[in-house]
Amino acid sequence: MGIKQIIAIASAKGGVGKSTICANLALQFSAHHKVGILDADIYGPNQHIIFNVTNQKPKVKTIDGKKIFVPIEVDNILLNSMGFVIDADKAAMWRGPMLSGAIKQLKNLTQWGYLDYLFVDMPPGTGDAYLTVASDIKPDHALLITTMSKLAVHDTLKSKAMFDRLNIPIIGIIDNMSHSICSKTKNQVHEFSQINLEQEIGCDLLGSIPRHEGLADFDITKKNNLLETIYNKLKAKL
Ligand SMILES: Nc1ncnc2c1ncn2[C@@H]1O[C@H](COP(=O)(O)OP(=O)(O)OP(=O)(O)O)[C@@H](O)[C@H]1O
Ligand SMILES: [Mg+2]
Repeated sequence: MGIKQIIAIASAKGGVGKSTICANLALQFSAHHKVGILDADIYGPNQHIIFNVTNQKPKVKTIDGKKIFVPIEVDNILLNSMGFVIDADKAAMWRGPMLSGAIKQLKNLTQWGYLDYLFVDMPPGTGDAYLTVASDIKPDHALLITTMSKLAVHDTLKSKAMFDRLNIPIIGIIDNMSHSICSKTKNQVHEFSQINLEQEIGCDLLGSIPRHEGLADFDITKKNNLLETIYNKLKAKL
């Protein structure tokens, strides 16, 4: 029993693909490992939507007087999310201790059983949720997601500085939505001017992920190989 490694998927910038990469990576890992996802995005949880389980709720068991969540299982991936247990409108009003308490409870009171990897889908920003996750969930690694937009890179530097301060090692960065493939010419089309992310941010670049409908319209039954190289690089470092 227990969780071998916890990986926080993070970026200070919103909308760069944390939740999308988290779901797709978990799927990639789940072919070989026991995997869970904790959606710690208290203000805008998405994993229950991505996995199409909005109509389900984790069962609650009482063990030794404690209420324990039985996570939802989707195709061998265990999932618990703020989206199952709190009302997002109410959570938007929460600050500090309430927020910390909720994230901590969600992780500690979920019956994960044995997991090789728990992926934590983080909210955008660098606020309270990060302090809670760092102090209570204690990830073994942070994986940073960015795009090549100058603004995203700027915010990724903020994320890096924060994880450095919290003493959480950064396992690498992923350049998401790096390009699209032109349907006519099949050429790569880049939206942003190219930045040397390793040099700019000072972390290993694990790979570039294209803008692809197979990632946006996540379907657990349709496995794609877009994250295979990243999976192999990550596995070599974990
Ligand atoms: N590689 C990709 N190809 C196509 N669409 C993508 C890709 N990555 C992310 N998207 C889309 O971009 C949008 C933002 O992605 P997502 O919600 O995963 O970002 P996020 O960083 O988790 O956002 P937030 O900061 O709000 O939590 C979504 O509509 C998602 O489907
Ligand atoms: Mg998200």
